[in-house]
Amino acid sequence: MMQENIIPHTFHVEKSDRERLNGHRGLLVWFTGLSGSGKSTLANALEKHLVAHHMHTYTLDGDTIRKGLNKNLSFSPEDREENIRRIAEVAHLMVDAGLVVLAAFVSPYRKDREGIRTIVGKSNFAEIFVNTPLEECEKRDVKGLYAKARAGLIKDFTGVNAPYEMPLKADIEIDTITTSVEEAVAIIFERIKRNLILDNE
Ligand code: ADX
Repeated sequence: MMQENIIPHTFHVEKSDRERLNGHRGLLVWFTGLSGSGKSTLANALEKHLVAHHMHTYTLDGDTIRKGLNKNLSFSPEDREENIRRIAEVAHLMVDAGLVVLAAFVSPYRKDREGIRTIVGKSNFAEIFVNTPLEECEKRDVKGLYAKARAGLIKDFTGVNAPYEMPLKADIEIDTITTSVEEAVAIIFERIKRNLILDNE
């Protein structure tokens, strides 16, 4: 193994110190769903709510990460796996830094989402399924990508010619047809509150 000569240093400031300073725990809130399902909209609205409650946050989303850190990755199953793995590792560091991380990625494969849970740890992870039917995402087509995919201009487009594996037991599922953004934020906040509270509170 390449890692065999890497010996971790013991640091004097730990996650718990940073969390105490922040007044809340670190957490990764992961939004999965089709392109155009509303993941980033919900992540942004939730972030605003958390900041209003004096929490330390950061948002990671597909459109920014794929222009920088992961710009060398395609949408093949292998590259999507690597995309999600790197993001999970980055999010893990941010959670260790004490942040509440909002991550909005299609993340279509169940196995890759399970990998996130393993990397960040079960108690640091909440999976939110943004359940907007394909027909609705396609009707909205905010970025015009569904039209392109239907025209055969994008070869592995999720929902059109690449799979989306729905979560079987997400922590929270949001039906965006019947739930407003404000309602969704309230539902998510209510559910994650317990993960944000420090042990000694
Ligand atoms: S993931 O599948 O690897 O998790 P990610 O969330 O990073 O995807 O990026 C998805 C975003 O990239 C979509 O919102 C869309 O704007 C864009 N995109 C471009 N090509 C594709 C494609 N083939 N499949 C899905 N999304 C694509």
